[in-house]
Amino acid sequence: MTLDEKIAMVHGNNTLDGKPTEYVGYVPAIPRLNIPSIRMNDGPEGFRAQGSPGTSTQWPSGLSSAAAWNETLTYDFGRSMAAEFAGKGATVQFGPGVNVARVPVGGRNFEYLSGEDPYIGIKGIAAMVRGIQSQGVIANPKHYILNNQEDNRHFVSANIDNRTLAEIYFSVFEAGANAGALSMMCSNNRVNDEFSCANQQTVDGLLKGRSNFTGWVLSDYRGTQSTIQAALGGLDMQLPGCVKPDPSNPINCLSDPVRPNYFGEPLKQAVLNGSVPEAVLDDKVYRILYALIAIGAFDKPPTGTPATNVTSQAHADQARLIATQSATLISNKDGLVPLSAAELKGKTVAVIGTAAGTDIITGGGGSGAVVPARTVSVLTALHTELPESTIAYYDGTDPASAAKAAKAADLAVVVVGSSSREGADRPDLTLGDTDLAVAACGANNRTIVVVITPGAFLSPWRSGAAATLVMWFPGQEEGSAVADVLFGREDASGRLPMTLPNKENEMEFTPMQYPGVSNESVYSEKLEVGYRWYQAHDVLPAFPFGHGISLAGEQAFAYSNLQIDGATRTVSATINNNGKRDGIEVAQLYLEFPAAAGEPPLVLRGFSKVLIAHGQAETVSFTLTDRDVSVADDQGIWSVYPGQFGVSVGSSCEAIHLKGTLKV
Ligand code: BGC
Repeated sequence: MTLDEKIAMVHGNNTLDGKPTEYVGYVPAIPRLNIPSIRMNDGPEGFRAQGSPGTSTQWPSGLSSAAAWNETLTYDFGRSMAAEFAGKGATVQFGPGVNVARVPVGGRNFEYLSGEDPYIGIKGIAAMVRGIQSQGVIANPKHYILNNQEDNRHFVSANIDNRTLAEIYFSVFEAGANAGALSMMCSNNRVNDEFSCANQQTVDGLLKGRSNFTGWVLSDYRGTQSTIQAALGGLDMQLPGCVKPDPSNPINCLSDPVRPNYFGEPLKQAVLNGSVPEAVLDDKVYRILYALIAIGAFDKPPTGTPATNVTSQAHADQARLIATQSATLISNKDGLVPLSAAELKGKTVAVIGTAAGTDIITGGGGSGAVVPARTVSVLTALHTELPESTIAYYDGTDPASAAKAAKAADLAVVVVGSSSREGADRPDLTLGDTDLAVAACGANNRTIVVVITPGAFLSPWRSGAAATLVMWFPGQEEGSAVADVLFGREDASGRLPMTLPNKENEMEFTPMQYPGVSNESVYSEKLEVGYRWYQAHDVLPAFPFGHGISLAGEQAFAYSNLQIDGATRTVSATINNNGKRDGIEVAQLYLEFPAAAGEPPLVLRGFSKVLIAHGQAETVSFTLTDRDVSVADDQGIWSVYPGQFGVSVGSSCEAIHLKGTLKV
């Protein structure tokens, strides 16, 4: 390859043959060498078809897959989404988003499939990457690394110790590398004062030096901030970027003051004058070519364009299934849910809240947004479900009117919700129409609150609500999925992938921790992220991590017969379903490390989602790997921690049913 050909491969903008393209990143083909073009697009909720709305499925968001606790489902989710990318001619899917939700108000928590726990992230990223890449589409886990806040995301430095970095945040990306992810996106923020995309410690050192990552690193859209440092630090591709700004033809090469071309011509000059050895450039090109060959891009010319309609009924059905699998019923007094349409015949149902109908929220904004061809609101779904009931819809803002509507009805369904988008964190954890939910719950004790949320939220209605069903961002099939659960066609089988707090900033972040002071954010909470903090500080949240209630009943599942085999490090337990119907349980395994290891009280190290027939029992079993019983040292190097471990099996981090010990 000539130097110019190599330089041409390490950046991409969004023009195709001199014209704007809908792919958000595009690297032209090199016909002389049969190298195919690289067509890249957002993102984690489906193909973001900016110019062709309605041509791709709006899937539930990444956080929904965290709430589903189901690796097979996550694999299928990735496979189906990527089939749509392939159908639109894309080579790379920007996703999954995998950052651990350190900050409850984080603006992009909805995009991330880790929730607040790296173990969920490790399982999720592996399944999702394999699913995506099974379709001949390269996965692109993002945003590497510590892009854990959106406020000030282009400048803030996440300052962190090696152990916390390894255990909580890097371990997820590492699992993506182990699963064969062929690319990753480095983030806009800085890490320990160096820009993430030019960061020797995290890109060259950790990702390329200490994991099995064979792919290439491309930058988030303001992530490239230097030429030589980024090239030597491990960045392989600047996005967006081009060779030389061309004022006469800005389409061909953008000259964007906040995204200057650091690769392209400046990189060529750096190679020519020796400040970047050509071997370094060769390695970048090698990594990109390796990924293209591995995914089969040389053998299969792309078909389809961003405008191709890739939606199908099968995908709509699957989006609906994912939404029900992530639907998390956090309270269900007296088993009000499932409802019976027959019992509601001739009765009045009050539906309250703009998110129920007039202002439906199905997904987030920014690059994670997908405009669906259609959406199903909760209001529409209830009309379909209850043709012989009177549906009274209140979409105003007055709590007294909401209370009146609820009081006059036999049943009230309030939908609370807020959206979120990249570039800013949420102002607080209060969702839209929360005051209406509080008022309705006060007026009618048969009030169900349905929650549409980008992450954690406050639930001041909870003492009065008959039931609260958390749907996260469920995607285009929202209303149908809500009805599937409310009327019991599907179990509510999601579990909380993040703690629901009692109040704002319950974890008492100082400004230095979040949002940071003078562009520095110090991760002084170390390993105490999410439930780890709550348990270490003996604080009971509103609803704990891992919590969720099956329609079989809150007390349906009885755990017994804990078996621990030290030699194979296998833990098993029996779960009986004593409930009133078949139900799905998510059994969770938490370890208590020996005190001297310095771990938080409990850490998740296994989960198993099982359907248990009414009156029957199932056995769940977990095998612990070396990594599961290891800690990282102050250099971030892992080793098995010998000693006596506590083993806890239960239905949330606060509902432990069986306890034993394991000697390592
Ligand atoms: C976002 C990325 C996205 C990129 C391209 C950036 O603003 O942070 O997640 O992939 O835009 O659209």
